[in-house]
Amino acid sequence: MQLHVADHPLISHKLSVLRDKDTPSAVFRALVSELVTLLAYEATRSLRVEDHPLVTPVTSMVGTKLAKPRPVVVPILRAGLGMLEGMVQLLPSAEVGFLGMVRDEETLQPSVYAERLPEDLSGRQCFVLDPMLATGGSLLQAITFLAAKGATDITAVCLLGAPEGVKAIEDGTKGLAVSVVLGALDEKLNDKGFIVPGLGDAGDRLYGTVG
Ligand code: PRP
Repeated sequence: MQLHVADHPLISHKLSVLRDKDTPSAVFRALVSELVTLLAYEATRSLRVEDHPLVTPVTSMVGTKLAKPRPVVVPILRAGLGMLEGMVQLLPSAEVGFLGMVRDEETLQPSVYAERLPEDLSGRQCFVLDPMLATGGSLLQAITFLAAKGATDITAVCLLGAPEGVKAIEDGTKGLAVSVVLGALDEKLNDKGFIVPGLGDAGDRLYGTVG
């Protein structure tokens, strides 16, 4: 697994506003979108491209275009949905698949409640979106799901990660080409499985609490 932790003043600034418990949902949603676009720049560094002959007003040249097949972006519902718009703005030709997952608040075990993904992901570059990498259970299950459909090139984009989650992905994805791009690597998890200092429950802060 390759880990990239963003080191950029704009990302640190926007993340600090997100972390503030008094930041309202509307501002939170807008900032998540902006942050994803900044992180996506790093996450898409290994996108495959091919030559594209073209004619400029001055001469002909060989340019570049994204190679086929198109990449697949997979937001993990709910919170990952808040990252989708920012990602597809940068990658408008991508296909979008969905995974709905929820983490049991007691056991911290994730389960899948919805899935809409292309059947065959072999040869497709996949980008998984989830704001929080806490224990890593949800992301690991998502990666395993994509790998079972043939994906071998998977990049996760997360706003915040905990060292425990990074280790879980590292240990659980040996043999796969997996990259994790984080806005920040925080200190630890607390006894409820929340990232510390973190930003709270990203899904709730984006969309409100569900009973
Ligand atoms: C949160 C978060 C991640 C997951 C991280 O989702 O958005 O998906 O928990 O935890 P983990 O690394 O320990 O698995 P949650 O289950 O709260 O669902 P939500 O997105 O619907 O709020």
